[in-house]
Amino acid sequence: MEAMIDLFLGLERMSPGSQETTAGAFQIAAQDRDIRKVVEFGCGSGISTIALARLSGASVIAVDNSAPFLSQLKQKVERTGLQQQIKVQEQSMDAAWPEETQFDLIWSEGSAYAIGLENALKRWRALLPPGGRIVLSDLIWIDPQPDAEVQDFWKNQGETLRYRDDTRKLFVSQGYQVIDDFVFSDQDWRNYYQPLKTHLPRWKSMYSDAETAGIVDQMFQEEMRMYDQFGSQYGYAFFIAERAG
Ligand SMILES: C[S@@+](CC[C@H](N)C(=O)[O-])C[C@H]1O[C@@H](n2cnc3c(N)ncnc32)[C@H](O)[C@@H]1O
Repeated sequence: MEAMIDLFLGLERMSPGSQETTAGAFQIAAQDRDIRKVVEFGCGSGISTIALARLSGASVIAVDNSAPFLSQLKQKVERTGLQQQIKVQEQSMDAAWPEETQFDLIWSEGSAYAIGLENALKRWRALLPPGGRIVLSDLIWIDPQPDAEVQDFWKNQGETLRYRDDTRKLFVSQGYQVIDDFVFSDQDWRNYYQPLKTHLPRWKSMYSDAETAGIVDQMFQEEMRMYDQFGSQYGYAFFIAERAG
C-alpha cells in the first residue's frame, strides 16, 4: 500500500478519465439541478476535485483516507485559489456522517470499488435528498464473452466487473433511478496509462524496497498488457443517477 501511494504521488491521475469526460458527466447530472453542495469520495490528489469545483461553483468536500494524496490536493487548492470552495477531509468513504448531512451531488471517480459498489450505494444514499444526484465511475464488461485470461486477471485483482445493465440494476435495487451512463474513450485510458508507463521505470529504480517495487511494476505492466490485448472487452463507465423516493 505504501509503495502504491508513493508511485501515485508522482502521477496526476490514478484512474482513466479526462477533463472532458468529467465535464460531460457533470453536465448530465447538473442539467436541471441547482448544485450547491458536493461531496467527492476517493478524491486522491484531486484531479477531478478541482474540475468539479470550477464546473459547479459549489462547495466541495473532498474525502480520501490517504493523507499524502490529500496533502497534494491541499497544495493544488492553494495554487488554484479555491480555498473558499474546497474542503479536504481525511476519512474513510464508508465512515458515518452526522445525521441529516445532505449533498446535492455525490461524485466518485475510480474509487467506489474500494469499499464495494453495492456497499457504497447503500451508504451514500442517506447523504442525498430524494432527487439528489450521484455520479460514479466503475469498471464494466463490454464483451458478452470476455476471454478467460482477462476474466482471471481482474478476478485475481479482487475486482468485480459487471455488465452495464447489471450495474444499472444494482443502482435501482439500492433505491436510485439511473439517468444515464456512458463508456470512457480509449483516450481516457491513455491519459492514465501513458504517464504511468513513463513513470514506472523511474519510480522502480528509486523506490527504497526493490522487491516490492518489482512486484508493483509487474502488476501494472500486466494490467497495461491486458488493456492492450483485451481493452475492447471491458471498460470504464460513468453512471449518473438520482435518489429515488
Ligand atoms: C484509484 S484512486 C482514484 C483517485 C482519483 N479519484 C483519481 O481518479 O485520480 C482510489 C482512491 O481511493 C482512495 N481510497 C481507497 N480506499 C478508501 C477508503 N476506504 N476511504 C477513502 N478513500 C479510499 C485511495 O486513497 C485513492 O485516492
